[in-house]
Amino acid sequence: MKVKTAIVTGANTGIGKEIALFLGKRGIKVFLASRSYERTLPVINALEKLRGAQKCEWISLNLDSLGSVHTCADTFLKKNASLNYLFNNAGFAGLRGLTKEGFELAFGVNYFGHYVLTRRLETALLSSKNARIINVSSKIHNRVKKLDFPSLRKFTQSSSGINEYAVSKLANILFTCELHRRYRSVGLSSFAVHPGLVDTDIWRTLPFFLRPLLKLRGMLSAEDGAKNVVSCAFDFDTTLSGQYFSKCLPTKPSKLAMEEKLAVELWEKSESWMDQYSR
Ligand SMILES: NC(=O)c1ccc[n+]([C@@H]2O[C@H](COP(=O)([O-])OP(=O)(O)OC[C@H]3O[C@@H](n4cnc5c(N)ncnc54)[C@H](OP(=O)(O)O)[C@@H]3O)[C@@H](O)[C@H]2O)c1
Repeated sequence: MKVKTAIVTGANTGIGKEIALFLGKRGIKVFLASRSYERTLPVINALEKLRGAQKCEWISLNLDSLGSVHTCADTFLKKNASLNYLFNNAGFAGLRGLTKEGFELAFGVNYFGHYVLTRRLETALLSSKNARIINVSSKIHNRVKKLDFPSLRKFTQSSSGINEYAVSKLANILFTCELHRRYRSVGLSSFAVHPGLVDTDIWRTLPFFLRPLLKLRGMLSAEDGAKNVVSCAFDFDTTLSGQYFSKCLPTKPSKLAMEEKLAVELWEKSESWMDQYSR
């Protein structure tokens, strides 16, 4: 039987690391895309110890530079492998800034870098039967009441960066819906997922006195958060493509996240930005 392949972004830690281990246990060949080989080495070692696991490969990926995103895609495409699963998982919350090409930092890393990566990997995804794209979003997207396009090209405006994080997670869902509308008829499915409130490094930017409060709200382990994400790859029928999942159930996202016109506008703007920064 042909070995299945997956790319996991942000595979060195947190939910991404657990997604990679889960895929390894299923005998899927995993491409670990992350910023640092050294920090991914423990995951590579853990995957190599799994019985029956395929040899994994590391690919460099820094989502705040489109040059790095293109190089990551080129590295994978040169292997002439088809791609069965793309887990757009990497992300951060609570930092402020701009990406190399001048996108608001959270929007650029959590959404736009993944948009470019996904589009560049289109041929590899389409060459495998029933491929799936899983975009890791968050229920925090519900906070966003309006998508202000000019602010996506400005330095982070809020002092905590949380508003911009919420916008990036809304964009993940709009992207999923539009991917579904454009590619479902050619056999490519897309899912957006809230992994739950998960105990990972993503909370490192939170003031340390607030962290115990989060724990009191009951946090999932990274492994359980990852289970919620991988369920979109294995447990649901492709007829559920285009949907947003929470607690392993198809869930209605915010009204804004379901606006088709907005999803089209975001796609078209992203496409023209991608053309502007192509190599
Ligand atoms: N934890 C939660 O409660 C929660 C809730 C809802 C949604 N999520 C989503 O779950 C996903 C995974 O987060 P996590 O909780 O596992 O957080 P995490 O432990 O902090 O892991 C985040 C991953 O993203 C990578 N990353 C950050 N910036 C990057 C960049 N510029 N280029 C490439 N990779 C980058 C990190 O790499 P480095 O190690 O190099 O920084 C790390 O591998 C995120 O999309 C997050 O929004 C998490």
